[in-house]
Amino acid sequence: VKAGDTVLLLGTGGVSVFALQFCKLMGVKAICTSSSEEKIDRLKAMGADEVINYRTHPEWQDKVLELTGGKGVDHTVEVGGAGTLERSIAATRVAGSIGLIGVLTGGEINPVNIMRKSIRLQGIYVGSRRVFEDMNAAISQHGLKPVISDTFAFEDARDAFHAMRAAGHFGKLVVKA
Ligand SMILES: NC(=O)c1ccc[n+]([C@@H]2O[C@H](COP(=O)([O-])OP(=O)(O)OC[C@H]3O[C@@H](n4cnc5c(N)ncnc54)[C@H](OP(=O)(O)O)[C@@H]3O)[C@@H](O)[C@H]2O)c1
Repeated sequence: VKAGDTVLLLGTGGVSVFALQFCKLMGVKAICTSSSEEKIDRLKAMGADEVINYRTHPEWQDKVLELTGGKGVDHTVEVGGAGTLERSIAATRVAGSIGLIGVLTGGEINPVNIMRKSIRLQGIYVGSRRVFEDMNAAISQHGLKPVISDTFAFEDARDAFHAMRAAGHFGKLVVKA
């Protein structure tokens, strides 16, 4: 991404909230979604440019298109998987890209619009050491503080998994080694 691009982020989990922080650091416009009004307020406080409630707007891809003048976003960070991918494809511009990071939901995908819109769909399963070092350099340079929702002792790791399933968190859940 480069400054001035527009990125779509789904939900307020660890991946998407970190991605929002990186968007703000890079001068990138972020359009976010969430199912919770309380979390929407937190996204706005963090600098999210536009936020859509995907519960009250189940056709949220139309809203994204409206917010981008019908064009669609340059990049999408996909964490929903099959349940959201078709909408993300619809919300991404022609020749834009989608980073497929997670698969939180099931369903089926019709790949036709990936072809029609010449979208680049990139699966990402953990980056390289060099990318990790570059990321850490950027975090240090900008003094970026990760958004940590809750921290659990190692012995309480079970509670961390329950918290993740309950999905009440905003940002990262941490288990201390
Ligand atoms: N490839 C990798 O390297 C990598 C790294 C980390 C994680 N992952 C994967 O990426 C995914 C996300 O990880 P995470 O740690 O961010 O998860 P998480 O913290 O559990 O994120 C949960 C949040 O995602 C949002 N969400 C759930 N279903 C959604 C839907 N249908 N549409 C839009 N948003 C939805 C909800 O946000 P709201 O409450 O705001 O609605 C929910 O609170 C997981 O599948 C995880 O396994 C992959």
